[in-house]
Amino acid sequence: MATAQVVGDVFVEPDANALTAASSRWILKHIQHVLRERERCSIALSGGNTPGPIYRQLAEAGAAGEYDGSRLDLCLADERCVPADHADSNVRLVRESWLAIDSKPNLICPRGDAQDWAAEAKVYAAALPEPIDLVLLGIGPDGHTGSLFPGASTAAEMEQTVVYVSDSPKPPPHRWSLSARALQDARAIVTIVAGAGKAEALARAIEGPWDPLATPAQLARRGTWFLESGAASLLTRSNQNS
Ligand code: 6PG
Repeated sequence: MATAQVVGDVFVEPDANALTAASSRWILKHIQHVLRERERCSIALSGGNTPGPIYRQLAEAGAAGEYDGSRLDLCLADERCVPADHADSNVRLVRESWLAIDSKPNLICPRGDAQDWAAEAKVYAAALPEPIDLVLLGIGPDGHTGSLFPGASTAAEMEQTVVYVSDSPKPPPHRWSLSARALQDARAIVTIVAGAGKAEALARAIEGPWDPLATPAQLARRGTWFLESGAASLLTRSNQNS
């Protein structure tokens, strides 16, 4: 299991709009930095309700020429095992919130209509850039991240870079997720969290005793954190940059 215990930069924003603006600005600068160093930049994207506005702002920056979207490889930090046009599909979220505004990026994703979901995890893993330049994560009120859930053996996977999850407590039950190994190998991680309902899980993720099997969001501890003030309400001041 990953051993990173040093906390990365923690930024606290007053509300959801400020969180979106600050995290989008940071990610844009990160993309521009990577593209000054390398030919392409890979970003793994999460689902959920928080990141859509961030994807739209990043796409608008690409459409405005602030970076060359054709040099971006977008992939998924996790995906539900559903067809790409299903309401639960994270591919659908990315297509509707990012690629609808700037269609230049390349999108790498597992096939939700695959017959064998366990086998598709290996096909998707083989298609991913290694290492991924930036993984964008959220966390759930139980401390999950991606589709790595507390207490699940899949949350401890350190060989494969993608796991197939068949018993997600957050519906739908069947998913694919980047593994603890992929998060450990990623060049950078940014976790974006809003809502007081996440405060307890977030305090465990950033400041709690190291136990990533119990709180998989700890696997992102070394990364950068953008928090809305309600989500950050149980953190001690010492961890915060703003
Ligand atoms: C998923 C997400 C999941 C999400 C968290 C936070 O596909 O379900 O990747 O890990 O990031 O559950 O979701 P919210 O952004 O809705 O709080």
